[in-house]
Amino acid sequence: MKLLVVGGGGREHAIIKKLKENPTVDYIYALPGNGGIAADAECVPIKATDIDAITAFAVENGIDYAVVAPDDPLVLGCVDALEARGIPCFGPRANAAIIEGSKVFSKNLMKRYGIPTAQYEVFDDPAQALAYLETAPLPTVIKADGLALGKGVVIAQTREEAIDAVNSIMLDKKFGKSGDQIVIEEFLTGPEVSVLAFTDGKTIKPMVSSMDHKRAKDGDQGLNTGGMGTVAPNPYYTDAVAKTCMETIFLPTINAMNAEGRTFKGCLYFGLMLTPDGPKVIEYNCRFGDPETQVVLPLLESDLLTIMQATTNGTLAETEVRFKDADACCVILASDGYPASYQKGFPITIPADVADQVYIAGAKKDGDALLTDGGRVLGATAVADTLAHAVQEAYAIAKRIHFENAYYRRDIGARALKAKEG
Ligand code: AMP
Ligand code: GLY
Repeated sequence: MKLLVVGGGGREHAIIKKLKENPTVDYIYALPGNGGIAADAECVPIKATDIDAITAFAVENGIDYAVVAPDDPLVLGCVDALEARGIPCFGPRANAAIIEGSKVFSKNLMKRYGIPTAQYEVFDDPAQALAYLETAPLPTVIKADGLALGKGVVIAQTREEAIDAVNSIMLDKKFGKSGDQIVIEEFLTGPEVSVLAFTDGKTIKPMVSSMDHKRAKDGDQGLNTGGMGTVAPNPYYTDAVAKTCMETIFLPTINAMNAEGRTFKGCLYFGLMLTPDGPKVIEYNCRFGDPETQVVLPLLESDLLTIMQATTNGTLAETEVRFKDADACCVILASDGYPASYQKGFPITIPADVADQVYIAGAKKDGDALLTDGGRVLGATAVADTLAHAVQEAYAIAKRIHFENAYYRRDIGARALKAKEG
């Protein structure tokens, strides 16, 4: 089979490495991929948002199955466009990807179908939003409606910060049209859990849970990033919590999307907070998380391509989705200064014996050399019999990888280990 994977980060590298385990896979194209993914797939310089070019490429190259991994092409209708040309795909159509593409949509969906989430108000008029903030309890959470590269959420501790957030999103249009509407919501507390789930629109099969580390600095300090590291499983996500989530969140969400005529197929990501009042949805993503995928897929024992095709064909109920009884840890090596400004273009050295455990996110090739080319450069991932060992091994790999301005958090997994100790 000839596959096409849309996207070019660490998540896509993890997906491609896993897909290659299937013996029927002959060839994989990555659009655009990156310098590291080039070791595992043919990278073609077509942007993940250039839907027309992706579709034309897929038709010309006789692609048998396409995996659309990032949020923006999904929201833009990449799956719809490929399907219209007869190419089966993994991922939701645009009318279902809206569950991530519009926070106003997802909040209203949860309210309408009784799915637990933070209390909220929606505003399309900045004056009304500012008036509401005069009496809103603090801290308060302000979210741009649309996609904002993961930066559209502000947790305001003071009224001034809240006012600044509304002004920059709605008046200065920091995120363009994504800020035409905003959600202002209640601040929730509790451990966060990421649960990715395969679904064909009828059946939903959650993957092993995980924990992201979103802040740039140790101790959850510093700016919000795309994610500085992950562990799986997440120790806060007990069997009892999983059962509650299935009954009150996962199945109701799939049913709600069906009732709205927006059947969701692909990977649905539940960003959950385990509050004192039970699990609540912080956000939905219409795709695999990054870097959650880098710990979840190495633990997947069943065949990824078979599962993906089952989500497309509606046969997920009969398809095995089994995970190893083990722990995984991924430490992200970033360019120092990320997520603000940073330098790039430095040579990366990765010892050959650990190359299999490294997922490249931001790198380009220069002849035989691999040069840094992004904020998050790569992820060092280890699978082991205990969380403590997985963390140790991931750091042991990280220490053996070099580039000039490498930066990584030293405490990935620390919170999870503490939770395990009780
Ligand atoms: P997001 O960009 O939607 O992933 O949100 C970024 C982070 O903001 C989340 O991972 C949470 O840590 C935090 N967050 C979002 N909404 C809330 C909320 N209602 N209460 C507390 N924290 C929140
Ligand atoms: N790691 C969070 C995300 O993929 O959105």
